[in-house]
Order: sequence, then structure tokens, then C-alpha cells
Amino acid sequence: MKICVVGLGNIGFNLFTYISLKFPGEIVGVDVNESRVKELRSLGYRVTTDYRALTGIDVWLMAPSTGDQGQNLFSALEEMIICPGSLISIESTLPPGTMGRVRESLEGKGFRLGNDLFLIHVPHRVMFGVDKTVCDTPRVIGAFTRACLEKGRQFYAPLVPLLVEVSDVRVAELSKVVENVKRYVDVAFAQEIYGYCVDQGMDYDDLRLAVNSKNNVELLATDWGIGGECLPKDMCFLRTVCNSILLEGAEQADRDYRDRIVNQVGSDKQVLVRGLSYKTGVKDLKHSRGVDLVRALETAGNTVKVEDPLFTTDELSEAGFSPNNEVTQRNEKQDCVVLDRQKALELK
Ligand SMILES: NC(=O)c1ccc[n+]([C@@H]2O[C@H](COP(=O)([O-])OP(=O)(O)OC[C@H]3O[C@@H](n4cnc5c(N)ncnc54)[C@H](O)[C@@H]3O)[C@@H](O)[C@H]2O)c1
Repeated sequence: MKICVVGLGNIGFNLFTYISLKFPGEIVGVDVNESRVKELRSLGYRVTTDYRALTGIDVWLMAPSTGDQGQNLFSALEEMIICPGSLISIESTLPPGTMGRVRESLEGKGFRLGNDLFLIHVPHRVMFGVDKTVCDTPRVIGAFTRACLEKGRQFYAPLVPLLVEVSDVRVAELSKVVENVKRYVDVAFAQEIYGYCVDQGMDYDDLRLAVNSKNNVELLATDWGIGGECLPKDMCFLRTVCNSILLEGAEQADRDYRDRIVNQVGSDKQVLVRGLSYKTGVKDLKHSRGVDLVRALETAGNTVKVEDPLFTTDELSEAGFSPNNEVTQRNEKQDCVVLDRQKALELK
């Protein structure tokens, strides 16, 4: 079997290495980002930027970024040399309705789904920082035809702990978006309750301990807000197709939360921000609300230093931040405002 992973980012690259261990066949990868491909090649991986070099592929595992309302996916589909009989599995998170557009595009090229081409949607669900591999979690699978579903089942059953088959591919699509938006709304609720606790002089951690002692309730931590690659994007996907005051309110709550921190600090202060990665325990600054906060504090006229146990001071400097140093540590006791991601609204 010849497998190609499309998009070699967080999901795609981890999928590539995982599949390489699981399948005896040939595994190749493609990404449009030349520096990423160069880096992976220098580490010995069989990857390319050139779709024309990818012939005779039996299985396409697609994990390109979809922050552009899925446009990357369609660019990739245009470039792929698709063999009759092959399986295309789309693992990226999709704006609702995208699978229908993918079907149209493939049928427009003359393919008959379930006959000479097999198309499935198996949205990815990994939780980096929690899961050990990219295939630890049960996966939802949807397709337009029984034959496509069957082909997908044969491929994924040995790879994942459980396959949850749905009869309508739109359900598979929406399930992933809803799962992330549910978390978004939960965090937004937590932000509002945390703010209330701070106003009332109550301890939010104590409240969480109390509430979470009931096994069907989880009051979440708030961190710097709702960041990362997925949650804000997927909220945008759902808001585009589903009118909801609740969703609008959740987005507003997240914005208000950071505005409140900035207002509390004021201007012309020395500020130390502790914890910068987009979430605790994951070394990644992309779409980090900690980064947004630092920039907002600077715009308000503050001098901001940062520290994060996951990054060296050199890495923080290279990323455009002023890392904490001894001067800040000395000042901390005097006139430095310290902001901690675990206690975002409580200034020290
Ligand atoms: N990161 C997560 O925790 C997570 C979890 C579940 C689902 N997802 C979803 O998986 C998808 C990928 O996420 P990610 O975090 O790996 O993104 P990423 O930005 O880390 O990587 C995406 C890669 O796709 C490449 N790409 C873009 N257009 C391409 C094209 N036409 N052909 C080939 N490669 C192309 C980019 O260059 C990039 O390297 C997204 O839809 C995301 O929502 C991510």
C-alpha cells in the first residue's frame, strides 16, 4: 500500500510518523511549505512539495490547515494525481458543508464515489499534551456511500481504539466543530464566573473544587482565554452557519476577559507575564492569547517581560519578546505587576 499524508503540520507530521510505524508499505508526505519540507527531508523523511512526484497513491490522508474556510483542502485536491480505486480520507476540521463541495469537485472530475473512488471524513481529535499518540482517541467516520464507509472502516479499524460510524457525512463534519465549540462555550462560561468570583473576593479554585465534585459537571480553568489553532477557528465555522446569541456572547466574553486584565493593569507599568504558550504544557506560540495579552499590554503603554518554562530566554527573544531577567525578578518585589496564567485576573 502506498500512503500519502497531505499537510505536514502538527497533525499531519504526527500522523505521518505514526502511520510509518504501523504500515509496512510506502509512506510519503507533501506540504506546500518549502522550509517545512526541507527541514523534514534533512531529518530523513520522504516528503516533497511537488504533487507531480506523487503517483500510484492508494490512500490519501489529508490534514492541511483549514483556517481559510477549507480553501487549502481544495488546492490540494486540485493538485493530487488521484488513481481509480484509491481512498481519500479527510482528517482536517471542516466548515459545515465542505464535504458536499469536495464530492462535487471529485464528481466533476468524473469519479463515482463508492465505485472508482472512496471518500471519507474522519475528523482528527487528538489532544496534544494529553494523548500519547495521534490515534489514541475514538474517531467518528462518515461517508456518502456504504462502500466508502466500508473501505474507510477497513483502513482505520486497526489504527484507532473505536470507530463511531455515522450515517450522514454532515454529522461527522459537524461533530468535530461542535465538540470544539462546546469547549469554547465552557471556557467562556468559566471566564465569566471567574470574573464574578474575583469581584466578590471568592476563591475560584475553591469553587471549581466544589462544583467539580459532581461527576457530570466540569467548571474549567480560564488561562489567558480561548486560543490555539482550533477553538476560535471552529467557533467561526459554526457561527457562519448557525445564528446563535449564545455563541456571540461566548466570543464577547473571551474578548472582555482580556480587556479586563489590560484595564486592571493600566499604563506605564513594568509587567511580568508568566506563561506564554497557547496552552499550558504545549510549546507553541501560534494563536496564543498570552501573546495577544502581551501585545495589548504594550499597546496600553506598559513595559512587558515574559517567562515560560517551556521556552529558553533565547527562544523568547527570537520570537520578539523581552524575557524575564534578574532586573525584573528584583523589581517583582517592588513595582512590577505580575500576571500568572493560572490566576489571570488576580494582580500581584
Ligand atoms: N492541532 C490540533 O490540535 C488539531 C486537533 C484536531 C484537528 N485539527 C485540525 O487538523 C488540521 C491541521 O491542523 P494542524 O494543527 O496540523 O495545522 P498546521 O498549521 O500545523 O499544519 C497544516 C499544514 O498544512 C500545510 N498545507 C496547507 N495547504 C496545503 C496544501 N494545499 N497542500 C499540502 N499542504 C498544505 C501547511 O503548510 C501546514 O504545514 C486543521 O483543520 C485543524 O483544525 C488540529
